[in-house]
Amino acid sequence: KKIVLAYSGGLDTTVIIPWLKENQDCDVIAVCVDVGQEADWKTIKKRALDTGASACYVADVKKEYVEEYVWPALKANALYEDKYLLGTSTARPLIAKVLVDYARKENATAIAHGATGKGNDQVRFDLGIMAFAPDIEIIAPWRTWRLKSREEEIRYLQRRKIPVPMKKKDSYSRDDNLWHISHEGLELEDPANEPSLKRMLKITVPPEKAPNKAEYVEIEFEKGIPTALNGKKMDGVALILALNKIGGANGVGLIDLVENRVVGMKSRGVYETPGGSILYYAHQELEHLCLDRQTYAFKQQVSLKMAEVIYGGLWFTPLREALSAFIDTTQKTVTGKVRVKLYKGSISSAGVTSPYSLYNTSIASFTTGELYNHADAKGFIRLYGLPVLVRALMEQDKKKG
Ligand code: ARG
Ligand code: SIN
Repeated sequence: KKIVLAYSGGLDTTVIIPWLKENQDCDVIAVCVDVGQEADWKTIKKRALDTGASACYVADVKKEYVEEYVWPALKANALYEDKYLLGTSTARPLIAKVLVDYARKENATAIAHGATGKGNDQVRFDLGIMAFAPDIEIIAPWRTWRLKSREEEIRYLQRRKIPVPMKKKDSYSRDDNLWHISHEGLELEDPANEPSLKRMLKITVPPEKAPNKAEYVEIEFEKGIPTALNGKKMDGVALILALNKIGGANGVGLIDLVENRVVGMKSRGVYETPGGSILYYAHQELEHLCLDRQTYAFKQQVSLKMAEVIYGGLWFTPLREALSAFIDTTQKTVTGKVRVKLYKGSISSAGVTSPYSLYNTSIASFTTGELYNHADAKGFIRLYGLPVLVRALMEQDKKKG
């Protein structure tokens, strides 16, 4: 039997290799999916083989991640529960798809992953695998083994003389990729506690430590997709990396959220999304300039639904594709340049231009022009307000008795 394992080289997946081999007569093929996480793949590959994997592959899908998963979320302005930019939620479906590709190539009959039975990630992995490979068995050891904690996992490795792949055991539970870093655990487990930003943050400075001078960036969008930064054309991966640096140095994009997980519980996480937060902000500024009222309003509803669908692991569904199709249509005119100002954790507007701008100075300005006649407003308000008038008349009559 051959099993493909979603491998990161962290504690969980390091335990899973010997566990699978002891509990099933199998070969384990470790697959690392590179979505831009901080990782030394050479060391990780060696660890997989030393721990008993029969092969270890690294699939670099950064470009696909940005263009086919991050950009659709950005175009939608998808935010879960008003705050979360869905960094982990967008990456899991792609990871699942890559695992299936490797399972097919290797003739594996099962895919294993290290997500726990309490979280969202198991839902996203399982649904992503099911969408492409309904015949493949899914093994999630956390849902079946007797190990109850990270301490027990460490003891499991020690008993087998397998080196423990982490420095300290008192660390946050993290997930990182090109788009974000998530932190859970430790003091965050009590919502009453302030996050210890100083020991937690990886790519962002705490806002009070950011420079005392504002920094400006200019982002160019074509049909809702960022294509240039400060006048320089860049592909998506390079652009996000560059914006993460700039945003991180200015302390922007920190989110602290108590969120509702798919499995019913609340959990608390802190997210670093410096580049992503700047892009969401800038993209929305451009939409304010280029979308008409009805389209903007309806898109807000679609955005809410999109966030819920992505968070809930339903990426590979007809609904998500239909939502994306609507969003793409709205983006035809979301082209232009946005200047934003970053200052000690805040992002603000510093000017926006577009060839598709619907802002019409001669209509909007206080000087009376040709296209708009103040006098037209009277009739409009009379009809628009007719229900208000009718109701007031009815109430007046009732009072008279
Ligand atoms: N709560 C976030 C989400 O559900 C982040 C999950 C982080 N996952 C992890 N394995 N550390 O998308
Ligand atoms: C996990 O439980 O595996 C991580 C957190 C989550 O998936 O929500």
